[in-house]
Amino acid sequence: MQLKNLSKVNFSDKKVLVRVDFNVPLTSDGKVSDDTRIRAHISTIQDLLNQGAVVSLCSHLGRPKGEKNLKYTLAPVADALANLTGWKVKFIPDIIGEVVDNAVANQAKDEILLLENSRFYKEEEKNDIEFAKKIAKNFDAFVMDAFSASHRAHATTRALSDLLPSCSGNLIDREITMMSEARDNPKKPFVLILGGAKVSDKIAVVENMLDKVDTMLIGGGMAFTFLKAQGKEIGKSLCETAKLDFAKEMLERAKAKGVKILLPTDAVVAKEFSNDSPTSVVSVDAMPQDMMGLDVGPQTQEIFAKEIMAAKTVMWNGPMGVFEMPSFAKGTQAIAIALTQATKNGALTVIGGGDSAAAIAKFGFSKDVSHVSTGGGASLEFFEGKMLPGIEPFIL
Ligand code: 3PG
Repeated sequence: MQLKNLSKVNFSDKKVLVRVDFNVPLTSDGKVSDDTRIRAHISTIQDLLNQGAVVSLCSHLGRPKGEKNLKYTLAPVADALANLTGWKVKFIPDIIGEVVDNAVANQAKDEILLLENSRFYKEEEKNDIEFAKKIAKNFDAFVMDAFSASHRAHATTRALSDLLPSCSGNLIDREITMMSEARDNPKKPFVLILGGAKVSDKIAVVENMLDKVDTMLIGGGMAFTFLKAQGKEIGKSLCETAKLDFAKEMLERAKAKGVKILLPTDAVVAKEFSNDSPTSVVSVDAMPQDMMGLDVGPQTQEIFAKEIMAAKTVMWNGPMGVFEMPSFAKGTQAIAIALTQATKNGALTVIGGGDSAAAIAKFGFSKDVSHVSTGGGASLEFFEGKMLPGIEPFIL
């Protein structure tokens, strides 16, 4: 997929607004606790500065529901960006109005403005064109770089690109290049690893990818619905009864197509959903009635790792267990290690954002795979085969 990117527009001396995703976690005293998403936009901003553009940034943070709520102010992010880069970053306490008009009119070339949270206005999530016009009026051009918000058709992720000369930024370029190579042009064997709690979150991905992959490895809470669909007893493990028919159908369709779906053969079980609850490893054919599966077992880890290490393309979305609790983290860690090995062997390894990105970061392997997406919902929708409204205008 080719995009109209930064190289296709001349930004010299232009006042450029960049839509970033600075929706970052904050500590209780309002400090940025993980700056991954801030770092991800530096390349785009630096390229624009090098071209002689005068740069302003806009973003959302959290879900303030259209109300001005200072719990969600972007002010601390301006400090974090300045500390990270040494740039002069000025925070502007609104995204429209006189305060912005004045700041942009008087902006120094080496100064970056960060405008306040776009979601302080109800119009943002309505993709309201009049609201977008009020934002756009101060700028000559727009760069959309917020991959992780590109599945939202909001005023700052969509309408602005219809109003101003615009293109995609470097982050979106890299995300789309890496992920479309995995989704649309995978070298075989192609292994898709799915995990996480719920089947319902992954239905569209399973449906879209079943035709494309050679092997699907299913772990996490969602695996138990599939095991139940095979007629197994799963004790107190998660089960989405309403999705049992879907799971059965997918297992049958995979069989008919010659796609391997591998489910866990063993599980780490406990009586309580707690790190302190005593654990044991059991076969999925002998799950105790009073226990729940909270991680994949060692045999499954070995089987899954073997598939991953033999693959040429691997895409991973969703943890294998409750990796936030050390007692149930080994399955997810084993997958992360296998991915690093597959990458060393020359495979393209792509980690969908959200929990899998958090897991691989926790285990310290983010730099040892081909690509870790910054987008949770956005990368999921991309692998569902959906058109992302924030990216659509730039597809060549
Ligand atoms: C994310 O964190 O996935 C993005 O910033 C989008 O946030 P949203 O789910 O609140 O739209």
